[in-house]
Amino acid sequence: MALEGDHCIDAGSEYCPCYLAEMNCCITCTRLKNKCYCDCNWRGVCIYQEYHFLNYQKREPREYQEVQIIEREKIGENLLIFTLKTPHTLARQLKQPGSYIFIRNRNLEHYFDIPISIMLVDETKDYIKISVEIHGVKTQSIKDVNDSLLIRGPYWNGLFGLEHLKKAKDMKCLILTRGVAQAPAVLAINYLLRNNNEVDVVIDPGKAYINLIKEYTPANIIEEAVDLYSQEGKGILHNHLANGNYQLVFVGGSDYLQQNLFKVFDEYKDLNLVLTNNKEICCGEGICGACVVYDADGIPIRSCKTQIVHKK
Ligand SMILES: Cc1cc2nc3c(=O)[nH]c(=O)nc-3n(C[C@H](O)[C@H](O)[C@H](O)COP(=O)(O)OP(=O)(O)OC[C@H]3O[C@@H](n4cnc5c(N)ncnc54)[C@H](O)[C@@H]3O)c2cc1C
Ligand code: FES
Repeated sequence: MALEGDHCIDAGSEYCPCYLAEMNCCITCTRLKNKCYCDCNWRGVCIYQEYHFLNYQKREPREYQEVQIIEREKIGENLLIFTLKTPHTLARQLKQPGSYIFIRNRNLEHYFDIPISIMLVDETKDYIKISVEIHGVKTQSIKDVNDSLLIRGPYWNGLFGLEHLKKAKDMKCLILTRGVAQAPAVLAINYLLRNNNEVDVVIDPGKAYINLIKEYTPANIIEEAVDLYSQEGKGILHNHLANGNYQLVFVGGSDYLQQNLFKVFDEYKDLNLVLTNNKEICCGEGICGACVVYDADGIPIRSCKTQIVHKK
């Protein structure tokens, strides 16, 4: 499957233009990519004009801030749910589906930054909830923290296909989610429900054995113990897709799971796909290159900032 992408998630936001404009590597604006003509698909305020008005300088980048842990819940051996007190503006900015932040133990260096999805936002009480599965070096470093965390954000490119999600109104949506990828699904489901969509959910508990969907959304769970990798699981999925009349399908799970399910989706026309972004995100600013994937012509796409489209 070929990948495409030239829409920067930060275009037109309070973080645009960014370092990439100063380096002549803007994702969206051709003028800020060393070309002498305008040829972008961006329909918002002209990025080049903004850069010009700012005296050819970037806007201020996101800063780290230390936030208080209001609650810390341990589920099983490997899962932590943190409730973090945040400034009001940040809580509001993180309500967008696909939002994530970097979290870090305040006693460690920036290379310990971990990208983590926003699961729930309460903008009246100004707190957010995140779920962290403990794996290796970075996540081990926060497993005993219980007073405060350093965070950096907001970042918004945690999902691909955001356009479908934002346009969805009065639609039937199917959410497929495995393990801790239920966390970004919670934010997306609550967004879809606010926009009058009907939401059915299939949960593959994976190794996490949790049901975050039941805990944090009122969505209709139609399966809660499916193994989406198994033939039986794929049969169940075919059955729901054939009879459910779904227009939007969300897949929260690894790239490997997504590749597996693309083969199932091939048989159905007009499905708008929304996928979790599982790339190795390091700086989140389009600079370090850790998250790079390549399009059909071998051109690198920085997936931390670019909305990627999967083309058959
Ligand atoms: C946008 C985004 C949102 C995420 N949201 C959550 C979340 O809500 N909850 C959660 O538990 N995890 C989430 N992750 C994954 C989390 O960032 C990784 O599990 C973590 O970085 C692993 O680091 P480690 O050193 O502990 O483990 P490692 O041993 O390095 O890796 C364990 C697993 O995590 C993957 N991984 C490692 N580094 C990264 C990275 N920088 N970015 C992405 N994946 C990585 C590896 O491929 C491997 O599968 C998210 C990742 C991204 C990109
Ligand atoms: S994570 Fe650094 S360029 Fe994308």
